[in-house]
Amino acid sequence: MNDCTFIIFGASGDLFKRKLFPSLYALIVQKKVSNFALIGAAFDETDMKTLIEHSREFIKEDIDEKIWQQINNCAYYQQLDFNNKDSYLSFKVRIEAIEKKQKLSGNRMFYLAAAADFFCIITECLAISGVAQKKNTQEAPWHRLVYEKPFGHDLASAQAINSCIKKYFNEVQIYRIDHYLTKEIVGNIALVRFTNCVFEPLWNNRYIDNVQIVLSESIGIENRGAYYDRYGAVCDVVQNHMLELIALIAMEAPQMLTGEYVREQRAQVLKKVSVVDGIYGQYDGYLQEAHVNSQSMTETFAAIMLHINNHRWSGVPFYLKTGKYLKKKETHITIKFKQVDCLLKVCPRDSNYLTISIDPESGFSLTLNVKKPGIAQEVMPVNMDFCHSCLFESFPPEAYEVLLDDIIRGEHSVSVRFDEIEDTWTVVDEIRRKQFSLYTYQKEADGPKELEDFNKKHGVRWLL
Ligand code: BG6
Repeated sequence: MNDCTFIIFGASGDLFKRKLFPSLYALIVQKKVSNFALIGAAFDETDMKTLIEHSREFIKEDIDEKIWQQINNCAYYQQLDFNNKDSYLSFKVRIEAIEKKQKLSGNRMFYLAAAADFFCIITECLAISGVAQKKNTQEAPWHRLVYEKPFGHDLASAQAINSCIKKYFNEVQIYRIDHYLTKEIVGNIALVRFTNCVFEPLWNNRYIDNVQIVLSESIGIENRGAYYDRYGAVCDVVQNHMLELIALIAMEAPQMLTGEYVREQRAQVLKKVSVVDGIYGQYDGYLQEAHVNSQSMTETFAAIMLHINNHRWSGVPFYLKTGKYLKKKETHITIKFKQVDCLLKVCPRDSNYLTISIDPESGFSLTLNVKKPGIAQEVMPVNMDFCHSCLFESFPPEAYEVLLDDIIRGEHSVSVRFDEIEDTWTVVDEIRRKQFSLYTYQKEADGPKELEDFNKKHGVRWLL
């Protein structure tokens, strides 16, 4: 039975409004959850109807008002001080009463969409009060705990959180998540590489010139000043989404393209990453954002050059670029192949590129050099495209939708293994130690103008 009590810690936050509720709504519309209760918990004085209403603008399709009402009838709010152990006892009584009223079987998903500082205390209180129970199997009624990224703020804090939660729950119940790993096209990266003979033989330092990963956002920090000012771009998206993308691109062939084998290969790559150089930016106006320190040196933009120190990748630069309030919302991975020897009078201006587009369109694009129509032997680049929505006439499901569905079904491979998290924090700690210079940039620019110096120094030409 796929019934579930969703208990969301941090339900008054941005993540619930933008991603979690819209994804839950989609799952309910698609009848992927047969019966449910939605319980939001946070410090604020509010109610669930208000929180759900804030989500309306983030739902892409036309809203089915009947289902909207049905959700409201099953939604409850619990004002909760996460640090107050006693309040979890009354919370337990309330959850049990709700489950009885809604005729639920007691499957509980605890989603910690709160700052990582609360992960240990919430987990401890859930365990001690008996709201969540330790279980050895995935069998119903299951209790699963979901930890949003970033898991900690450095290696030491991640290790402390992990040992805390492992004291109370078994690994099968713990989901450390990174929504990028459930994006449809991201799931395609390894599959395309290992099922097409044309890529794998070239996937190394003999044929690849450099790899670029760009996660550019047109939005700012929204209402997340307190969180963002503490974390910055590096902890917000480099530590998790971007390094996991690198791991997927650079990993060796797993024995099978399934959860544990892929996680093992990703972890092997992350252990070999070293930091070469970088530059930070902060958008003009950041210091005036709510809950941001007026002297803050937090980066809202970062460009970083990494190496992977193994036989396959030695000497190939991996460039990462991310930022808030940039020109466009775009996430892409571009693999630039080396240029061929020129046998023509007019040589190709460029080499081949494989671009994996993650956002806003999902797809792959390969540039080839072809002959320009006419008599002269001129070369021009053309794109061979696979566009997901054009071919399948629909957009892939939202990453959080897939994630929640997987967790309900007990698909544990969506959880990031803790050693991967340790390795990514080791890289981030190295980035932090390097103390890259911070420059201001204007909103809707491509980053600080000093990025040009970084580009010149390393011979980078950003492709997107
Ligand atoms: C989140 C970050 O993990 O990813 C946000 O906390 C960022 O700051 C978001 O906006 C980007 O995700 P997506 O799926 O919109 O590219």
